[in-house]
Amino acid sequence: MPKPKVFVTRLVHQEALDLVAAETEMEVWPEEAPPSPQVLKEKARDVEGLYTNVADPVDKGLFDVATGLKVVSQIAVGVDNIDVAEATRRAIPVGHTPAVLTKTTADLTFALLMAAARRVAESDRWVRAGKWKVSWHPLSFLGQDIHGATLGIIGLGQIGLEVAKRALGFEMKVLYYDVIRRPEAEEEYGIELVDIATLLRRSDFVTLHTPLTPDTHHLIGEKELAMMKPTAIVVNASRGSVIDRTALYRALRDGVVAGAALDVTEPEPIPPDDPLLTLENALIIPHIGSASVETRRQMALIAAENLLAGLKRQKLRHCVNPEVYQAWGLAP
Ligand code: DGY
Repeated sequence: MPKPKVFVTRLVHQEALDLVAAETEMEVWPEEAPPSPQVLKEKARDVEGLYTNVADPVDKGLFDVATGLKVVSQIAVGVDNIDVAEATRRAIPVGHTPAVLTKTTADLTFALLMAAARRVAESDRWVRAGKWKVSWHPLSFLGQDIHGATLGIIGLGQIGLEVAKRALGFEMKVLYYDVIRRPEAEEEYGIELVDIATLLRRSDFVTLHTPLTPDTHHLIGEKELAMMKPTAIVVNASRGSVIDRTALYRALRDGVVAGAALDVTEPEPIPPDDPLLTLENALIIPHIGSASVETRRQMALIAAENLLAGLKRQKLRHCVNPEVYQAWGLAP
């Protein structure tokens, strides 16, 4: 029997590629830059499996041409680049890699929070620019205290909860807003559910952990930024489009809020002439929330496993649309 054809849209850990190659006729996109949407569509045309990442648009147009597609396996927890409803309509499972990246992403979120609070990147730039001329100055690079401050978490999923746990180690007061209440977490960690306006008004740091959906698109805009304290810092390690970037730029420029630390931007990559990059109080890193050696390795392996399971019409380890199993004669 011929092996199923699959297309892997970017180089991932060799171990994962070896697993896939053993059971498929695999093509891997070798370049650092992603295939263009047109090339991706062409590649998808005659494969049974796609191994994707957050930068690949897997939309209706792609599904229309990929008539033999049996599975889409994404190396990420978020799947907002994939038209999941369309995949479900066609009984195509969409795999993803939750859980394994939770703590790694929470660690990075906290690194962002701390770096913005204490102006780490800004002062490093200043040193490298040769501006450190006086040994120590009492008024130099004053930032915000983290200990004792109030952290507002928007979206208390797995990552949000891990961020809360880290905050407790820093003696922070933790508020959260979510559409789903987590009484067990409130009880165990002493965190408090509030409405979003209260969270914005009371928090010294606001961190975003929602998936990107039509409801969360530009969840933080001019009105929300205006509710925040002028000393507040916004942290985003979810998706860039959860924040209205024009409103954020103005709020940072005009001192409506004190700072922002972003692992994600809208769009990605952020264009080099984006006005946000002109601001010292915007800390911006290139979507590296889950980028530890071991976590990315695990993600690559899980995505390989999901891909191979889908090709065999078996249940995926992590599937965002398990309702498709019914069409395969499997229980969801
Ligand atoms: C995810 O997993 O959704 C991240 O954004 C990529 O690590």
